[in-house]
Amino acid sequence: MGLKKNIDLNVQFPMPIAIVGTMFQGKPNFSTIAWMTRVNADPPMLGFAISKHRLTGDAVLLNKEFSVNIPGKNLTRETDYVGMVSAKRTDKSHVFEYTFGNQKKSPLIEGAPLNLECKLVEKIILPSNLWIVGEITNVWCDPDLMTEGSPDYGKMKSMILTMPDNKYRTIGKEFADAWKINSL
Ligand SMILES: Cc1cc2nc3c(=O)[nH]c(=O)nc-3n(C[C@H](O)[C@H](O)[C@H](O)COP(=O)(O)O)c2cc1C
Repeated sequence: MGLKKNIDLNVQFPMPIAIVGTMFQGKPNFSTIAWMTRVNADPPMLGFAISKHRLTGDAVLLNKEFSVNIPGKNLTRETDYVGMVSAKRTDKSHVFEYTFGNQKKSPLIEGAPLNLECKLVEKIILPSNLWIVGEITNVWCDPDLMTEGSPDYGKMKSMILTMPDNKYRTIGKEFADAWKINSL
């Protein structure tokens, strides 16, 4: 591989930050998740990897539904906190103002500009994590943070995580259009 170095296997790519919302024992719980991506186009589905130690995984399997909330950088402190503390030991139900959409066990964070309601469709058991697949059943977006009818992640100041430096970042400046170049 020329001058490239062979590095640690535990490599991470830049990751969008989401907060998964569940209900457990009558209370909402929120946990930060970075290992998340869209996995199916039609119907729209997303997947995320949750460690088997997290209460969030248990709650998703129990309720068969969950929310995905995309915070802006104004929620950095709260986002970091709900990613450090487990509801197994500490009640996180008061960290965010929340409401419900159509699903009654998928609490939606009021202060997050984008909220998705999801139904569990699949779980894959991996050695240390569960891969949870959810179908997106409803999406709610702050109209002030949209451009031409779609979420505008620049306006939202949505967060990206990089590792191993463990930094939150906002998305950078656009520099080219995608889906433009069809010959070289
Ligand atoms: C920035 C950040 C990203 C995280 N991403 C994930 C993730 O993708 N998967 C996961 O299992 N835990 C992730 N965590 C850790 C959980 O959010 C954390 O363990 C949380 O306390 C779990 O709470 P719970 O037991 O109430 O579900 C992340 C934490 C932070 C701070």
